[in-house]
Amino acid sequence: MFKKMFICLGMLAAFTLFFASCDKKKEEWKGKERTLSIIKPDAVSANHIGEIISRFESEGLRIAALKMVKLDEKGASDFYAVHKGKPFFADLVTFMSSGPVVAIVLEGDNAVLLNREIMGATDPSKATKGTIRSDFAKSISQNAVHGSDSKENAEIEIPFFFTEKEQQSRF
Ligand code: CMP
Repeated sequence: MFKKMFICLGMLAAFTLFFASCDKKKEEWKGKERTLSIIKPDAVSANHIGEIISRFESEGLRIAALKMVKLDEKGASDFYAVHKGKPFFADLVTFMSSGPVVAIVLEGDNAVLLNREIMGATDPSKATKGTIRSDFAKSISQNAVHGSDSKENAEIEIPFFFTEKEQQSRF
């Protein structure tokens, strides 16, 4: 009798602890987002990978996944499919497949917007001083980094480079 009560109490305590830890995890995740960053061929060949990553980390973003890849023309064209038909599309595909890139999943509070602030404007001549593009980009077409422009696009862009298993939540 006592043994059964003891087992039941033990199970109840285990369930309570399990649900409490789920609630805590949910609480910690509140407001957090994931976004895709790409360090482009110009910044990779100029050896700026470390400096760029350290800007993300010092602004509070965490790396949930990271890999260096060389896109072929089809890969670059598929990734930037929304820009098909624009005058800069062919050059963009040639440039993005010209050398290795570093794809990164960044995680944190309002990660999409925060990453865009850290990157600066698409055209480096218009980017705020101290942003990645202002400091490292040469031109609008060789602008050091890409970042998802919305939560919805991040959800499309992240799986282009990473499976679920390749992403580790840091919260
Ligand atoms: P990115 O944020 O990677 O998204 C699309 C890319 O197209 C952009 O950065 C630029 O590097 C590139 N691009 C080239 N020319 C233009 C242009 N005139 N307007 C916008 N993007 C351009």
